[in-house]
Amino acid sequence: MWHGCPMPKKILLDCDPGLDDALALLLAQGDSNIELVGVTTVGGNVGLARTTRNALALREYLHFENVPVAAGAGQPLLGERRDASHVHGESGLGSTVLPEPVLAVDDRHAVDFLIETLRAAPGAIHLVATGPLTNIALALQKEPAIARWVASFTIMGGSFTRGNATPAAEFNIYADPEAARVVFDADWQVVMIGLDLTLQALATGAVVERLGRLGALAHEFILPLATFWARANQSGASTSEWDGQAVHDVCAVAHVVRPDLFSSRPARVQVETTGEFTRGMTVVDFDSASPNAIVPVMLDVAGFWAYVEHIYSIVAGQHA
Ligand code: BDR
Ligand code: CA
Repeated sequence: MWHGCPMPKKILLDCDPGLDDALALLLAQGDSNIELVGVTTVGGNVGLARTTRNALALREYLHFENVPVAAGAGQPLLGERRDASHVHGESGLGSTVLPEPVLAVDDRHAVDFLIETLRAAPGAIHLVATGPLTNIALALQKEPAIARWVASFTIMGGSFTRGNATPAAEFNIYADPEAARVVFDADWQVVMIGLDLTLQALATGAVVERLGRLGALAHEFILPLATFWARANQSGASTSEWDGQAVHDVCAVAHVVRPDLFSSRPARVQVETTGEFTRGMTVVDFDSASPNAIVPVMLDVAGFWAYVEHIYSIVAGQHA
């Protein structure tokens, strides 16, 4: 039986909201075993202005007004910017319209905010990245010591069998492969929550039905975010291909406080940056004698949803 953490774990979330980034923020804000200490934004699912606006709007809607939000990189280290507005909608939040935020963005660049926040509390902060890795790479280049200041570093990105942006590459890695390479080559252990794992975390019809019982927050916020893409795609695809929308980024936050829900293997992960058909692919060697990553491969799906639904129900109760 799970008894919770004695002390809340501090999480700094670098993200590109984003439907599932928003659901990850909801989990981080709602779980009393998590203390959200900062949110940094990166261009990804939509452009930086929109991901930052969404993070600011989410901060006020979900009432974590005391948590700084700092804006970061709008362009990848190299090459053209790619987005996923065909998945997340023009705004990045699908059909969800949040009130215009009132509170200002932090006046530091996300890279400086990341460095200063980690320097101030070495060993205490779990860094989680759920967007392209541009800010993290720039922070490592400016201050390599962040690699030893983090308590842990978890990303949603990559995969070991398939891609979603291309047949080989997952979106967050594909959007900035050079940054991902810097991140995997740094002197730390990356927890890589890839597509193979997150595609087990589907908001299926049964999950949606249970979430629907959570009241107003579910109907105005959780369900529109958790079903926007699946609903858009259901019309054009066979239903067997669309068992529900994956809540990718939620898995990354969940892993920090509920690693017991994941079965993981050490691996060496390298990022392909030049392949004609494989740029942005994560090449995962589970047999390596020098692993640089922990790769969750199997999710306790029932346990995951029990946990997520429990936390969401607490927030929904406060919201009512
Ligand atoms: C990842 O890409 C983005 O579109 C999602 O927010 C998630 O972080 C899934 O490949
Ligand atoms: Ca994301």
